[in-house]
Amino acid sequence: MKLQRRALVWMAIGCLAFSSSEAREAKEHDRDVNYDEARLPHYDLPPVLVTAQGKKVTTAEEWFSVRRPEILSLFSNLIYGRVPAPAYPIETSFEVVKTDPEFMEGKATRKDVKIRFRNEKGEISMHFLVFVPNGVDKPVPAFLKHSFNNTQSKDFDASEIRPGLLKNGWPLGEFFDRGYGFCAVYQQDLVRHNEVEFLKGIHKLFYPEKQSFPKAHEWGVLATCAWGAMRAMDYLETDDDVDHTRIAIMGHSKMGKAALWTAAQDQRIALAISAQSGCAGAALWRRKSGETLKKMVTRFPYWLSRNAWKFVEQEDDLPVDQHMLLACIAPRPVYVHSGVDDTWADGRGEYLSAYHASEVYKLLGKKGLSSEKSPEVGVPIIKSDVGYHIREGGHSIEMYDWQRFLDFADYHFKP
Ligand code: GCU
Repeated sequence: MKLQRRALVWMAIGCLAFSSSEAREAKEHDRDVNYDEARLPHYDLPPVLVTAQGKKVTTAEEWFSVRRPEILSLFSNLIYGRVPAPAYPIETSFEVVKTDPEFMEGKATRKDVKIRFRNEKGEISMHFLVFVPNGVDKPVPAFLKHSFNNTQSKDFDASEIRPGLLKNGWPLGEFFDRGYGFCAVYQQDLVRHNEVEFLKGIHKLFYPEKQSFPKAHEWGVLATCAWGAMRAMDYLETDDDVDHTRIAIMGHSKMGKAALWTAAQDQRIALAISAQSGCAGAALWRRKSGETLKKMVTRFPYWLSRNAWKFVEQEDDLPVDQHMLLACIAPRPVYVHSGVDDTWADGRGEYLSAYHASEVYKLLGKKGLSSEKSPEVGVPIIKSDVGYHIREGGHSIEMYDWQRFLDFADYHFKP
């Protein structure tokens, strides 16, 4: 009886603690946050097709040789942070440590790949998961996901699946049925995402003896994740089961931000999907709707470079905005996904970014978004080089979203 009472007391304390931390989170989200279109600041976006010297960009050649490198350098140095040149050469190796040709009752083959980085400063490895459907013509197109979930966890164990669906919600059955492979890198293999452990990872391999912390213009967490995905891409170029010319990168939320930064830099990636990437992803900084730069660097100081801190409440001083990030992916197709209730990620700002990036797609002879007005909820734009959908509901990837991503990939990969 006594024990029961004590358990009840602990449960009550637990519930209170939980609801107060939820309440704290909600408060944190809402304090000084604007969600009202009528209260947006006035802003002018930096022109994507005018060089730093003020010259209008009118040809693909000028875009690729002058303006795109200029924009990438601004994003590197001021937003995400530049990957430093390693002080000692890093040796990279790939090892397929396990192959399971009977994954999902023989529907697919699963490979567990270890990507190792080594130099005299130490060794660190990244676990890379690769699934390819069986019984189809290989090599297959594939999605490369920046994953929140640890790729070594049981969530990826075939014994944990409902038909076609992994425990963590990935609809792998759908991918295999549609002829796609699915690969995943785990966000924390190379870099921890909290301030205390931030540097316990790949960073130390890059720094000279006297450096232990990134310089103001050097990589934050998202840039490190992007670097990791590029190394996974290096592996994919060696895997005959996967068509490395048809890789679609994707990620949700924080990982959507990393996915866009990966695709912007790495032209080997054929297509990019941003699932509710929001602030520092597809959403425009200058709208300051939902999450802002200030909120981001206060709550997550190392996701971006320290240089980005300087623009808090000075967004108008930024020489870039996020439409220019999407533009760097052109002419490769890009798809942006928002949720009506995901106001923290500013769905309208995500759409506008895609819309304004379309200027570059058009310059390169591709089809962009033609209307500044966001499409109706549940009406996806698929047959375009800049795709988009917004659906009812909040911050998640639903089956409906996965299917639209695959439709967009089908449209481009299987004409
Ligand atoms: C927080 C953060 C967002 C991020 C999200 C997520 O809400 O503020 O920027 O996208 O976490 O990763 O789920």
